[in-house]
Amino acid sequence: MEELDIDIIKERISDIFSEPGTILVDHRIVVDSMSLKSDELILVLQSGLLSAEIQGDAKEFIEKRLSEFPSLKSIKIIFTSQKDQSPSKTAAPPNLKIGNHPKNKDVSLRPELIGKIIAIGSGKGGVGKSTFVSNLAVELDNRGFTVGVIDADMHGPSQPTLLGSTEKPQINPETKKIIPTTSKGIKFISIGLMVPENQAVIWRGPMLMGALEQFLRDVEWGELDFLLVDLPPGTGDVQLTLSQKAQIDGSIIISTPQDVALIDARKAIQMFDRLKVKIFGLVENMSSFVCSNCGHKDHIFGNAGVKAEAKALKLPFLGEIPLDRKIREYSDKGTPSILANPSIESSKSFAMITDTLLNQINKL
Ligand SMILES: Nc1ncnc2c1ncn2[C@@H]1O[C@H](COP(=O)(O)OP(=O)(O)OP(=O)(O)O)[C@@H](O)[C@H]1O
Ligand SMILES: [Mg+2]
Repeated sequence: MEELDIDIIKERISDIFSEPGTILVDHRIVVDSMSLKSDELILVLQSGLLSAEIQGDAKEFIEKRLSEFPSLKSIKIIFTSQKDQSPSKTAAPPNLKIGNHPKNKDVSLRPELIGKIIAIGSGKGGVGKSTFVSNLAVELDNRGFTVGVIDADMHGPSQPTLLGSTEKPQINPETKKIIPTTSKGIKFISIGLMVPENQAVIWRGPMLMGALEQFLRDVEWGELDFLLVDLPPGTGDVQLTLSQKAQIDGSIIISTPQDVALIDARKAIQMFDRLKVKIFGLVENMSSFVCSNCGHKDHIFGNAGVKAEAKALKLPFLGEIPLDRKIREYSDKGTPSILANPSIESSKSFAMITDTLLNQINKL
């Protein structure tokens, strides 16, 4: 029987892994290393979190494709999230496996070299936190600041869609840290970049906290002026862990003017107060709607409720953003509206809010 040529096998494997529409590409499974010992091929694969079933299907697929090499007696396939060809005793292991239990109980998780860490929260879901974060990030970037974003919403990550990239982060082989994905000039990290879109994240609290810790500790953020954290709705574990361990500099609360959203916004304000996190200010989103046909302005969710709330609580009011179809459309297209439509009214609102926020921060 013909002798096995490693180069031919390598070439074939490279073809198999880049073939569009296969289980390997769909689940972002890549080859970490391969070796051939007489007639046994050992393939070490790297991927995000995969179920045993998907791993089994992927193995079956690879074995089937490699059956064209009858001289290959055995194929051993190992799934890993670690690049361990040259294990280093000193550096932390590379870590694309997200969702471990938290470590370092009392250690600060604040990344070095970050100017300000700002968490953007709300009590209620769907009020526009993530949209606000992506627009604020690109506006700060436009003004010459370096900006990073942590998408801390593990169950409903939005930043890959909003910033328009699903590129899987890589591992820096030297530092063993995760290199964040960059899009529109913004460095960002999101569970949505690591877990395939159609795969639900069904973790318990400790796993979520582990992922959040990794986003802070294991990502190579470098020097940033601002690190914005897009929080999930509510007042849960993520908010707590972040406030207690990452020493964040402050928070911004987003709400719509309607009562149900305001009630929940108050809870978020109370939580940050109790955790001694400064509130840089409140933002009213979806504050008015201007009919594109007749120009009539309507306050669909009520009028100036957030401004009144800020006044009552003696908190800064950062500004209001109108309900604008372009904001929604460009969010869905993966380009924050302020970048695509800098001169429309809603973009001016984002810019004004950025001015007020920077003023608040300068007062610190
Ligand atoms: N000012 C606005 N005008 C028009 N659409 C908006 C506006 N703000 C947000 N949206 C749209 O509202 C929807 C919800 O926004 P977004 O996902 O940012 O909210 P969220 O508070 O982050 O939600 P969740 O709590 O689920 O994380 C999105 O479709 C977004 O495009
Ligand atoms: Mg969101």
